[in-house]
Amino acid sequence: MTVTLCGWRGWLGRFTLLLLLCHSVTYARKRKMRLEAEDEEEETNIRLPPTLRPVHYTVRLHPLLHGNHTIIGRLEVELEVLKATSRVVFHLVDIDVVEESVRVTLISKRRTLPVKRQRYDPEYQQYTVHLRRRLRQGNIYLLSLHFQSMLGNATKGFFVTTYKDKEGNERKVAATQFWPADARRAFPCFDEPEMKATFDLYLAREANMTAISNMPLVRTTPM
Ligand SMILES: *[C@@H]1O[C@H](CO)[C@@H](O)[C@H](O)[C@H]1NC(C)=O
Ligand SMILES: *[C@@H]1O[C@H](CO)[C@@H](O)[C@H](O)[C@H]1NC(C)=O
Ligand SMILES: *[C@@H]1O[C@H](CO)[C@@H](O)[C@H](O)[C@H]1NC(C)=O
Repeated sequence: MTVTLCGWRGWLGRFTLLLLLCHSVTYARKRKMRLEAEDEEEETNIRLPPTLRPVHYTVRLHPLLHGNHTIIGRLEVELEVLKATSRVVFHLVDIDVVEESVRVTLISKRRTLPVKRQRYDPEYQQYTVHLRRRLRQGNIYLLSLHFQSMLGNATKGFFVTTYKDKEGNERKVAATQFWPADARRAFPCFDEPEMKATFDLYLAREANMTAISNMPLVRTTPM
């Protein structure tokens, strides 16, 4: 197996990447009620709250193209806090987040904030991590999590398709199609046009496969 890293700059929705062959805190009752009331009133919006801005993503994907088509993924996103909040809200579709892997860490102090609960809203395709503490304005936090999904069969998100090689043999290809709002099918992300960020993308593949990206290769490492 081999891991390929590509630098990937720009809003993820604009790009098509081709991958060929490839805790306990006691709260005063009132304070708790107030926080919960805040949570509820903010929760029903099709737009992501304008409280956080993704700065840089590190996405690791291992699609089992010659196996059961599972995608094993890991996400790390650096987030700048534009307005204090106790919720981290992002998009995903048909992705299972490993709940116990979810961490929100204050990068400068390497301090991890306790998670209160996590919830998925299928209508708005939003995943919300509720924290027991507020993220402070101006600080940078790291959201990290493990996830699993499946390569899709339709041409959206991260999907599998086939082609014929020179000898006429059918070969499998895993490819991505993110426009207009399908990046959220490939990995959890803040999938809105104004939430532009930079990316490092790692792709694990079998040694006999090739990875092709529309951004330069940084390195390939056998493992
Ligand atoms: C797919 O296969 C991998 C590795 O063999 C395994 O860890 C994973 O649980 C399987 N996924 C499903 C949905 O069966
Ligand atoms: C894709 O199609 C195959 C075969 O029909 C099916 O087993 C698989 O579950 C489908 N995958 C998804 C993500 O729908
Ligand atoms: C690459 O290796 C896998 C098994 O590791 C095999 O299933 C697949 O057919 C191979 N692909 C090519 C193009 O040889």
